[in-house]
Amino acid sequence: MQNFFLRRIFFPRRSTSYRRLAVRLTALILISFAWTNSSAETSIERGEYLTNILGCGGCHTEGALLGNPTGQWLAGSRIGIAYTEDLDDISPGIVFPGNLTADKETGLGRWSKDDIKTFLLTGMDHYGKQATTVMPWPNYAYLQDQDLDDIAAFLKQLAPIKQTIPASITAGAPVNNAFVRIGVYLFVPEEDTERRPNPPGELND
Ligand code: HEC
Repeated sequence: MQNFFLRRIFFPRRSTSYRRLAVRLTALILISFAWTNSSAETSIERGEYLTNILGCGGCHTEGALLGNPTGQWLAGSRIGIAYTEDLDDISPGIVFPGNLTADKETGLGRWSKDDIKTFLLTGMDHYGKQATTVMPWPNYAYLQDQDLDDIAAFLKQLAPIKQTIPASITAGAPVNNAFVRIGVYLFVPEEDTERRPNPPGELND
């Protein structure tokens, strides 16, 4: 059906009249208009797309770190992530993926778009605090300016959700929060030395 019409529009028969030609031209213009319009994304839509593929919600959503998101998407996680590496340590340093919604008290409501961009590039937050690299800002520092603009535009329009996320816990301090450890469960079979990863610092040698 659709093919038939498209064929008639793109390959008119020779005996066609000017009136018919005009109708076809109008149809062509309408089709191309609909086409460009449907693929034109707003900055906010593109920001949402980037936020999805960069996995921000995988950490910044309650329950997501345990593989079972239960809270509002991007409203923060009260389950922390240990950043000190000793597996036996029961009071490691712990950081918490914050509330990225626009709530003024508990989220990014007071951050400007530039604050968000600077943070993604440097890990330096709106309050002058340097984030650990558990938040993968060194990777996000490769984002291009337009990407950063779009992510910031998307985050700033998220409906504010009031959810207080705990402050980070320094190593050795008592821990009352659930936490996960990322990147420390390394299993390398003894005999399989080929697959042993490079120690840090030797990756680019
Ligand atoms: C691997 C988990 C993880 C991912 C993925 C992640 N974050 Fe984070 N993020 C964190 C943690 C943990 C912190 C707190 C870091 C600290 O205090 O040292 C944080 C902090 C932040 C902060 C500072 C404010 C706050 O609420 O703590 C912003 C803004 C932020 N992340 C935005 C993002 C965005 C945007 C993305 C996706 C592009 C993202 N994060 C992806 C874990 C993550």
